[in-house]
Amino acid sequence: MSAKQPIICLQDIEKTFLLGDLTIEVLKGVSLDIGAGEFVALRGVSGSGKSTLMHILGLLDRPTGGRYLLQGEDVAALPDDRLSALRNRLFGFIFQTFHLIPYLSALDNVMLPGLYGATPARQLRRRAQELLSQVGLADRLHFRPGQLSGGQQQRVAMARALLNDPQVLLADEPTGQLDSATSTEIIALLKTIHSQGRTVILVTHDAATAESAEREVLLHDGLVQNR
Ligand SMILES: Nc1ncnc2c1ncn2[C@@H]1O[C@H](COP(=O)(O)OP(=O)(O)OP(=O)(O)O)[C@@H](O)[C@H]1O
Ligand SMILES: [Mg+2]
Repeated sequence: MSAKQPIICLQDIEKTFLLGDLTIEVLKGVSLDIGAGEFVALRGVSGSGKSTLMHILGLLDRPTGGRYLLQGEDVAALPDDRLSALRNRLFGFIFQTFHLIPYLSALDNVMLPGLYGATPARQLRRRAQELLSQVGLADRLHFRPGQLSGGQQQRVAMARALLNDPQVLLADEPTGQLDSATSTEIIALLKTIHSQGRTVILVTHDAATAESAEREVLLHDGLVQNR
């Protein structure tokens, strides 16, 4: 039982995709509380709906049923512009495939999420440099993704996710494509990010990786198996 105030409260969340005549029920009533400052692993086999749920959590997609209370506020009631403002302010994303822009340097990739805000470019650049140093890439600022190793690209993605100083970090299989030594380093970085007071949600299919979190949530058959 977490004594921490829930930042995220999902009540019977459903997500159904319609593909022509096909109805694909991916989430069938997911209920889940996540406290501010928790480090939670969201685990399930491939196709169990982890990324779908992560997109809903991060306000990148809306559920087809149920209620999502974010900091106590029902997000269904919010218009799209409020939703994107909330998304930018609260969430940092590390996507399953890194989603780095191939023709931009590491530094420019990290600065990207800030370009929509009011922060002056010089300040953004300084912060991006700082973040890249924190993830051990001070000597790779001007390398493009194709000139970086997989683990280094994942670090750039982490630095980018932190640019807007998010309260909640959503990491979708951040170690999925990495060797075990590099995975250990990435998990250590996630722990540091958590120790800075952020909520970390780590999506993984791997039981051993899930053990690095404080709590594991198991997704199976469209439902959370343990709460
Ligand atoms: N836009 C979509 N349209 C139709 N079906 C979709 C869509 N997005 C996801 N699905 C289906 O939802 C199911 C869950 O997909 P999801 O990507 O959430 O799984 P996952 O748990 O993240 O899997 P993995 O571990 O392989 O990344 C899959 O069966 C997938 O085909
Ligand atoms: Mg996925």
